[in-house]
Amino acid sequence: MSQSLQKVLVTGGAGYIGSHVIYALQKTRRYKVISVDNGHNSHSNALSKVSALSRSELPADASQRDIETTEIESYKCDLTRRDEIRAVFEKYGKGGIWGVVHIAAYKAVGESVEIPLAYYENNVAATLYLLQTMQEYDCTRIVYSSSATVYGIPPTIPIPETTRLKADSPYGKTKVMSETMLDDLCHSDPKWSAISLRYFNPAGAHPSGQIGEHPKGRPGNLLPLLAHMAIGRVDPKTLQVFGNDYPTPDGTCVRDYLHISDLASGHLLALEALAPNSKIFESTPDARYKAYNLGQGKGISVLQIIEAMRKATGFDFKYEIVGRRRGDVPDLTADPALAEKELGFKANEDLAIMCRDLWNFQSKNPEGYGKFD
Ligand code: UD1
Repeated sequence: MSQSLQKVLVTGGAGYIGSHVIYALQKTRRYKVISVDNGHNSHSNALSKVSALSRSELPADASQRDIETTEIESYKCDLTRRDEIRAVFEKYGKGGIWGVVHIAAYKAVGESVEIPLAYYENNVAATLYLLQTMQEYDCTRIVYSSSATVYGIPPTIPIPETTRLKADSPYGKTKVMSETMLDDLCHSDPKWSAISLRYFNPAGAHPSGQIGEHPKGRPGNLLPLLAHMAIGRVDPKTLQVFGNDYPTPDGTCVRDYLHISDLASGHLLALEALAPNSKIFESTPDARYKAYNLGQGKGISVLQIIEAMRKATGFDFKYEIVGRRRGDVPDLTADPALAEKELGFKANEDLAIMCRDLWNFQSKNPEGYGKFD
C-alpha cells in the first residue's frame, strides 16, 4: 500500500528561493507542495515552470502518486492577513499540513531603513500570524529563512553560529526577531521544532535554465544586476562598485556565494531534520530549535565576481569605483561546519557553475518569466 504524501507548505513559493526549494521537494517524490505567495517580488509563471520541469524528469511509466508530487496547490495569500492564511490551513484541517518552509519576506536592506514599519509588518507580524495559525492547526514544524545579516559586522571570520546576533538594519532586525520568536516558542512547547537557516549569498539558477531569478525592476543585488547588464537590459552599462577601501584583499567587499540548488537542498535537509526521531536536537534538550549557516565557507570579492561573470558571459563589464553603500559589511563568510556535521549539508557548486547557470537562465529567458502581472 502506498503511503500518502506529506503536505509541506512553502511561503514565498513563487519567488527565486521558493521556486528552487519547491523543485527540490518535488524531486524527492515524497511531498505534496502547497505554495502561498502574495506576488510581491515573484512571478506567477514560476510555479508552472517548476511543475513542468519536475514532470519532465518523471519516467514514462510514473505512478499517479509520482505525478501528484509534481503538482503544486497554489494560493495567492498575504501572510499579514490572518484570515487569508487561516483559510489555507482550514482547507487541510488540523494536522493536515506536515510542515512549513517560511521564505516569504521583504529583503532589501536600504528600503528597510526607509520604511521600517512595512518590514516589521511583513516580516515579523506575518511570521507571528503564521505561527499562531500553525499552532491552531497542529502544524508544529517549521524551517525559517534567516540571513547572514543577523550577524551585523561580525567579530570573527569565518562566522560561526555562536556569534552574537547584532543586526544593524531594520531588515536584519526582523530576521533576529523572527528567530527569537521561534526559539521562545520551541522553549515553551516540546511539540514545536524549528530550524532557522542563515543564508549567505544565493546565486545561479537551475541548470536547465527553466527556473531562475526574476527580480522586479532594476536588480539591486550584484549578480542579477551583472546578468541584466550582459543581456542589455540595464543602462548605463557601467557598474558602480561600492567602495574599494575595505579591509579585504582587493579592497572590495567579500561575500560567501552558494548555488541556489545547494541552498534549496539545505531546506530539504532541514525539513527532514524536523522529523520526530531527529538526532540534531539531542544537544539542545530544552528546546527543539537550531540555527545553521548555509554558505560555502569561501569569501569572494566584488571584483572576483565581475571577473567570473565576464568569463561566463563573454561580456566586457565596465565598472567604476564609487563610495561605500550604506549598511554594507566588509566580509560575510560563513563557517559552514555545523550544517555539514549535523544536517549533512555541503554547498558543492563553485562560482563558475553559479555564473554559468545564472547566464544560462538569463540568456534563455532575456525577459525572465515575462512581464509581471
Ligand atoms: C544584501 C543584504 C542581505 C540580503 C541580500 C538579498 C546587505 C548588507 N545585505 O546582501 O541582507 O539578504 O542582499 O537581498 O545589504 N555591489 C556593488 N554594486 C552594485 C551592487 C552590489 O558594488 O551595484 C556590492 C555590494 O556593495 C556588496 C556586494 O556587491 O559588497 C554584494 O551585494 P548584494 O548582491 O546586494 O548582496 P549583499 O549586500 O551581500
